[in-house]
Amino acid sequence: MPNRIERGTALPVDLFGDEAVFELEIADIWHRDWVFACTTDAVAEPGDFVPVVIGRQPIIMVRGDDFKVRALENVCAHRGAPLVDCAGRASRFSCPYHAWTYDIEGELLSVPYAQPDEINHSEHGLASFLVETWNGLIFVSLNADVEPLHERVAAIEPHVKPLGLGRLHHDVAGTMSEQWQANWKLIVANALDSYSHFRVHAETIEPVSPTDGSYYLAGSARATVTGGESMERADHVVISLPPSFVAIVYPDAMLWQSVRPVNVGHTEVTTGVAGEAATDAGVIVNIPGWDARFVDEDRAICERVQSNVAARWRPGPLLEIERALGDFHAYLAWRLGDVPPEPPVFSAAPGSRPEPSL
Ligand code: FES
Ligand SMILES: [Fe+2]
Repeated sequence: MPNRIERGTALPVDLFGDEAVFELEIADIWHRDWVFACTTDAVAEPGDFVPVVIGRQPIIMVRGDDFKVRALENVCAHRGAPLVDCAGRASRFSCPYHAWTYDIEGELLSVPYAQPDEINHSEHGLASFLVETWNGLIFVSLNADVEPLHERVAAIEPHVKPLGLGRLHHDVAGTMSEQWQANWKLIVANALDSYSHFRVHAETIEPVSPTDGSYYLAGSARATVTGGESMERADHVVISLPPSFVAIVYPDAMLWQSVRPVNVGHTEVTTGVAGEAATDAGVIVNIPGWDARFVDEDRAICERVQSNVAARWRPGPLLEIERALGDFHAYLAWRLGDVPPEPPVFSAAPGSRPEPSL
């Protein structure tokens, strides 16, 4: 399989519809790597919780009384019922089936009708998974041997740190999820694509972030950062942390998108924004020229490509302007085929643009 994925060539469309490849991706990518779960603002206070699904594993992201965020299995330790199905705040989780009750750290507290000593509570708590937070973004891994997240992002960190993402406030109520009829890889590759701005987003993104103003900054299979001109203000930066997360960062705001594969041809796409000021009315997000219709435009083009999933076709070449996609291809080859990541490439110092090539 990896020998069909190349840095400089489009992904074969049949990989967007192959059930066997999809199963491999669930096992080797979604159940083994770091996956974006939610923002720290979504679980700001002790007891705040959000259900998420990592690959096929249902999880409750919850902040404990010790202020630590945990990723607990959202599967009752009795007979497997999901414990919660929407976000909220709680001091206990009580199963809707037989009311086994857990504290927010996952310890089993009570079992109705059990005889004394019938159940050893300490053996039947909720299992938890690895959690790492990076710039107000929370990632989970089901794999205890995963490479630490800070190593994953080390090469792009010099470009990301000066942006001060941690100070931004996320618009938790405004976070939106919808299901797209497209394979997750297609959606991630599209999210990295600034080549299409002039065509797909002629009236939404192109006037503020033109195709020919975009440039590559640093990256590898592990993570990528690109930059782009934003009309009349400082350049923006695009951060990609495969498999699940892409963000566009402006001087005082961030727009992010995450993906979760539902099945080979369907993906849940979540879009969120963050800004510098939080008020009672919500988060003030300052993105001049911002036009939310671009999400619909992306959805339409991704679903259009997905419709060709059964076509006979020879994948075309990627242009230099599509270099960030090459990093994503290298990521897939690394995770699915054990092709080791190449050393990171740096094309400009943090805060500057690359020299124009002659
Ligand atoms: S399945 Fe949860 S209490 Fe029985
Ligand atoms: Fe797009």
